[in-house]
Amino acid sequence: MAGTVVIKWGGGLITHKDQLCTVNLDVIRSLAEVCSKTSKKLVIVHGAGSFGHLKAKKFRLTEGRIPELNQDSAVMDVRNDMLELNSVVVRELRSFGLDVQSYSPHQWAKGTGAEFRGELPLHHGVTVVYGDVVDDEIKEFGILSGDDLMLRYSTEIADVERAVFAIGGVDGILRVPPSKAGPEDLIEIWTPDMSFEGEHSTEIDVTGGIGLKAARGAMIAAKGIDVVLINGEIPERVLDAIEGKSVIGTRIESGNC
Ligand code: IPE
Repeated sequence: MAGTVVIKWGGGLITHKDQLCTVNLDVIRSLAEVCSKTSKKLVIVHGAGSFGHLKAKKFRLTEGRIPELNQDSAVMDVRNDMLELNSVVVRELRSFGLDVQSYSPHQWAKGTGAEFRGELPLHHGVTVVYGDVVDDEIKEFGILSGDDLMLRYSTEIADVERAVFAIGGVDGILRVPPSKAGPEDLIEIWTPDMSFEGEHSTEIDVTGGIGLKAARGAMIAAKGIDVVLINGEIPERVLDAIEGKSVIGTRIESGNC
């Protein structure tokens, strides 16, 4: 039987990151089509992009409850915005005939970071989860990143063959910021002892950007699971990565950690 592949659709890949709540429908459709072409069992974790980060940043939702700020409507808004983005993802996957079930993390996960609590829901067809605003025992609420969901799904469910991080705008981890990079700057094999200058727009991004993906990727690799980070805008690469074929991108290894 085919094994399971856990794949992240980065928020910057599936939305237009600087325009509030705008999907990149072409990319979502092409990713959905790719997913219909594999016999692997899939767990899809999608990010937030402009459906999450902008409002979460404005109302400082990663910090949890701040009494001086009126955050309640922002918590609700971001949850609803994420449900809207998730409904597009699910609709497009279903339009290619896939049996899809989505599980909103605010309904089953508590706490943020790699150690969040909650039993990982799993569907016999395609499972979809996403970065979300979740309840937190200490902070009251916080942002659970899809990269932490990637870590837990990749290392805790049965038969995982590999983890794939599909991101937007770059071919993988680059030695220099994307705006200055040429093809020779792609790091083909990355280990945590190697530095890189990712562009992390802290102005927009409330979670960890490419650095968090690399760190979580290395933690997944440390458990013996193959991890690859690829350009999700190129469907052939996404399919090859899912199938475990060699592909342009960055393989993440655990190094000596
Ligand atoms: C962030 O999730 C969730 C919210 C801001 C609500 P991710 O960390 O997985 O999102 P991307 O991939 O960076 O957009």
